[in-house]
Amino acid sequence: MLDNVFPDQIFYRVAEPWMWETPVNAAEEALVEKAVDKRKREFRAGRHAAHALFREVGADCPALLRGMQREPGWPAGWTGSISHTSGICMAAIASTSKYASLGVDVEQATPLKPDILDMICSKDEQVHLRDIGRLAGAGAALDKLVFSAKESVHKTYFPLNGHTLDFLDARIELDWGNKTFSAFILNPEAKPRRPIRQLQGRFLFYGEWVVTCIALPA
Ligand SMILES: CC(C)(COP(=O)(O)OP(=O)(O)OC[C@H]1O[C@@H](n2cnc3c(N)ncnc32)[C@H](O)[C@@H]1OP(=O)(O)O)[C@@H](O)C(=O)NCCC(=O)NCCS
Repeated sequence: MLDNVFPDQIFYRVAEPWMWETPVNAAEEALVEKAVDKRKREFRAGRHAAHALFREVGADCPALLRGMQREPGWPAGWTGSISHTSGICMAAIASTSKYASLGVDVEQATPLKPDILDMICSKDEQVHLRDIGRLAGAGAALDKLVFSAKESVHKTYFPLNGHTLDFLDARIELDWGNKTFSAFILNPEAKPRRPIRQLQGRFLFYGEWVVTCIALPA
């Protein structure tokens, strides 16, 4: 089922239980040396899942360090994305000959807290979600889906531009039937390195989670 959310030529892996528990290599461990246990577990799960993917494709990735923010420093010729939340962690990678950047996000499929809704979704998006809600049925956590889609926008956009968009700097439009979404970048920074007006993504309600993935073609 997860295959539906990852376009062709993307390799993905859900972390196995041992991956959460087992330390990674020394260079990566140093990045979470002072972190609390929960953070160490999720970090290790993501790193092990990514390393398993590099083994699968036969590419060299001795250590997956990080860049200016927390973004993983993917080896030359590869891009990818990591996400973790309670009970699940996944990593995805792709060759940069196919995709310029990936954004993957997984969240608990529960509604956003009402007090943050206005920070995440514009009034127009909230109207759109009410319309889609008629198709999706009561109980679908559509606002969390939009939150996840925007996190995927950030993970796709930041590595290319080194800029953090605000949640209201993008507008998400859902296609419920096809389980896809469009993300329109409404308020980019001045002179982005890689101007992006629109990104295309896929979503999936998967067990107790919602998963989103954006893959920007090379
Ligand atoms: C960074 C952020 C996206 C993390 O999201 P989260 O749901 O809390 O956590 P997730 O587990 O899904 O993702 C964390 C992983 O994302 C990756 N990540 C972190 N910062 C990143 C960045 N700037 N660019 C790309 N990937 C990044 C890392 O791999 C990280 O895991 P790791 O530290 O174990 O390697 C989020 O905390 C954040 O800062 N969001 C604000 C920016 C934003 O989303 N704007 C909306 C734009 S429309």
